[in-house]
Amino acid sequence: MSTPPRVIVVGSLNVDFTARVSRLPDAGETLIGDNFTIVPGGKGANQAVAAAYQGVPTALIGCIGTDSVAEIVFDAVRRGGCDTRFLTKVDGPTGIAHIEVDHNGDNRIIVVPQANDALTPAIIDRYADDIANAAVLLCQLEVPLDAVRRALEIAQAHGVFTILNPAPARPLDDDLLSLVDLLVPNETEAAVLTGIDATTREGALEAARALLARTKGDVCVTRGSSGSLLVTNGSDEVLETEVFVVDAVDATGAGDSFCGGLAAGMALGLSRAEAFRYAAACGALATTTHGAIPSLPMRDRVMELLGSGEPAH
Ligand code: RIB
Repeated sequence: MSTPPRVIVVGSLNVDFTARVSRLPDAGETLIGDNFTIVPGGKGANQAVAAAYQGVPTALIGCIGTDSVAEIVFDAVRRGGCDTRFLTKVDGPTGIAHIEVDHNGDNRIIVVPQANDALTPAIIDRYADDIANAAVLLCQLEVPLDAVRRALEIAQAHGVFTILNPAPARPLDDDLLSLVDLLVPNETEAAVLTGIDATTREGALEAARALLARTKGDVCVTRGSSGSLLVTNGSDEVLETEVFVVDAVDATGAGDSFCGGLAAGMALGLSRAEAFRYAAACGALATTTHGAIPSLPMRDRVMELLGSGEPAH
């Protein structure tokens, strides 16, 4: 019998069809790209593998299709060390992402959820005991919101720490946000949730504080290569993560690596500050290799970047 998961991720599995091009095209423009790959991705799969790579027993609850590309992402999740018994096969196509990456490493993504849309509260209920016994539940928004809500409700009812990465960006009601112990939007998602321009440090801080009033717990706004900031309920303190300088080639999956690393750090019992530093290193390293799952760092590389011994846990 395998180890019960300490981190449970509820989310999407996609196959990423990625074209690399010198610059992102304008509307109506055709450009010649210089590279094309088909690699496993999806925010749920990326975050689950990112957590599992840190040595934390991790399971992914999600849906994949029955088409020929399903195996690409299923296999990546399995080889990434995640418990795949929590995946449901549904008739039809697997989720896909259509990604463009420019030579600065910036990207533009269209996701077509397909099988991911089949995730229901009833499927979540099958794993209620597993969620109840986990240390951390980590969700995003590439699967139906009622399934995410159900998972958060189960976790909250059992004192399981909940993290929501509200990606892709969409408005959320306060009932849902009140089920979240740690909300991790990027600048775009923070702006959609608050109406505040979060592209500067001051704007990100203002948005984080506005969201603090609406969540149960804390808010971390990730700011790409500018790092991230964390505001904590009941405190005026702002925690800013270290910016690790790396040779970035592709930002795809970096936010997922951050979230997976954060969940793993929390499950390992790191302090909030240590977990944030750990997550920042995971996020930075993911930018140094192309692709989503192929770019996720394992624990030894993270520890090397952190330049220290094993974190306390
Ligand atoms: O966050 C990156 C991910 O977004 C990609 O792997 C793609 O599948 C989309 O879900």
